[in-house]
Amino acid sequence: MCGIVGYIGKRQAAPIVIEGLKRLEYRGYDSAGIALLNGKLEIYKRAGKVAELEQSLPKDLMGTIGIGHTRWATHGVPNDINAHPHISTNGDIAIIHNGIIENYAAIRTELLRKGHTFRGQTDTEVLVHLIEEIWAEAHCDFETAVRLALKEVVGTYGVCVISSREPDKLIAARNGSPLLFGVGDGEYFLGSDASPIVQHTRKVIYLSDGEMVIITRDGYTVKTIENIEMPKEIDELTFSIAEIEKGGFEHFMLKEIFEQPEAILNSMRGRLLVGEGGVRLGGISQHLERLRASKRIIIVACGTSWHAGLVGEYLIEELARIPVEVEYASEFRYRNPIINHDDVVIAISQSGETADTLAAVREAKARGALVMGICNVVGSSIARETDCGIYTHAGPEIGVASTKAFTAQVTVLTLLALALGRRRTLSDAEAKALVDELCAIPDKAREILKLNDDIKRLAETFKDARNFLYLGRGVNFPVALEGALKLKEISYIHAEGYPAAEMKHGPIALIDENMPVVFIATKDGSYHKIVSNIEEVRSRKGRVIAIATEGDDEISSLAEFVIRIPNAVDMLLPLLTAIPLQLLAYHIAVMRGCNVDQPRNLAKSVTVE
Ligand code: AGP
Repeated sequence: MCGIVGYIGKRQAAPIVIEGLKRLEYRGYDSAGIALLNGKLEIYKRAGKVAELEQSLPKDLMGTIGIGHTRWATHGVPNDINAHPHISTNGDIAIIHNGIIENYAAIRTELLRKGHTFRGQTDTEVLVHLIEEIWAEAHCDFETAVRLALKEVVGTYGVCVISSREPDKLIAARNGSPLLFGVGDGEYFLGSDASPIVQHTRKVIYLSDGEMVIITRDGYTVKTIENIEMPKEIDELTFSIAEIEKGGFEHFMLKEIFEQPEAILNSMRGRLLVGEGGVRLGGISQHLERLRASKRIIIVACGTSWHAGLVGEYLIEELARIPVEVEYASEFRYRNPIINHDDVVIAISQSGETADTLAAVREAKARGALVMGICNVVGSSIARETDCGIYTHAGPEIGVASTKAFTAQVTVLTLLALALGRRRTLSDAEAKALVDELCAIPDKAREILKLNDDIKRLAETFKDARNFLYLGRGVNFPVALEGALKLKEISYIHAEGYPAAEMKHGPIALIDENMPVVFIATKDGSYHKIVSNIEEVRSRKGRVIAIATEGDDEISSLAEFVIRIPNAVDMLLPLLTAIPLQLLAYHIAVMRGCNVDQPRNLAKSVTVE
């Protein structure tokens, strides 16, 4: 997720754009840049935060039209060259972009054939060259060139383009990535959200998907990219600045919990061949045969990523029938691991910087394994040091407690298991059915998020508990561990996750009327076993909270509290059952007055051993 800012008016653009980028930095902070128009295009961009860009700028920059971008890398490592804005070959068009152009490789190949050269590795750079090419070929105007280029794009964009050839115009367009503009007095402000706008004007116009706006100092016109004018209502902003940077949510963690449908969708975007039940994972395509032929897969990770790895074990063994072992990276690296040449090691890490996981990667590489990464931060150390990998495209995760990263990791692991399964024993019919089920997950996740108020009421009941147990079976056992970790790390309540059947081997001694026990009791293959485990807990006066399946009435007589979620095939349930547990932990922590986004003793990325 990136931040986009634009200005056109009578004031100098640079300070307005830089201030706007600072407001948007929470959306991504790998690199930043601005483009100014004062007769000619001036571009200033670099890796690092907005403040570093600001310090590097010449004083008294001139130009009353400007655009700016703060980047969350999706294609191409975060460096000066890949920072936005990107410019055309002849240097008279500048573009900034938030989103993913899925067909950028095909467009790039065609433009290379036509003689274009590219400075970086981003999908965005392809788009500005495409606009340039169309503008030259079609002998049209700036607006038409932008519109025709966007019609060729498959994917998502929130873009803003300026050109020294038509220096009184700012053009923006939206498809899948948010974009709005503020209406001032003879000046206009563009933003990925309202935070760079609200200090200048509360009058805003939200673009919808498939719409573009052409703005001059004298006014604006909103059109579809089919060139149909669209009359738009002017909305009035009611947020304060502080709220908007969190998108109106009280905490980044809650915002990121609610971003999960989009994060899951973005982790799949461009990778599912829906009609065929196939999967396209460009980042590992060169190594798919070795992955397919591997005799054993070892997953190394820490914390929440380790829980995602446990889900991955179920998925890969079920779909691809390859033996999987999941190791704490901190243990793996020190125990002189046995690694054979036909083993594959997969490192899972949201930050891509966790010291233990990075050390495990280096250990595995030194012993000759093929090492693959599943990271969220593009260009992170683990992403760069592994032989191949798959990015999760969850967008920046600011809250220390991992939420959308977990479901994005599980999504990617599902795609990997499918890709391997399709090259081994998984039938076309099974693969197609699973791909269809996967496509339905984002909407099911949205349904679960509507239970937020119910879960908040449930949290009220248990906010003073001193201990919690989380129990699950099969593919929901790792979710029980994840639910316990979420509660522990943000509310400071002691919580443990166990395989539900493990209770009778000791932990059941803990059960009494003061012990809340969260059961993941979805209607899956182990439901009746879970019901027996619930009975065991009830008979010892434990307080049962059940995450159950919609339509399950039986559970109401067994559990004191029931949160019902949509059904899904067993192996995709973790993408859904994790969400109510995240919300439960979040609300309990807030009610206990804990610092949810920055819990005590923790860091977002543990880069020390
Ligand atoms: C999870 O909520 C914690 N933030 C922590 O366990 C985290 O998952 C762990 O430190 C691993 O981080 P990584 O995914 O960035 O490697």
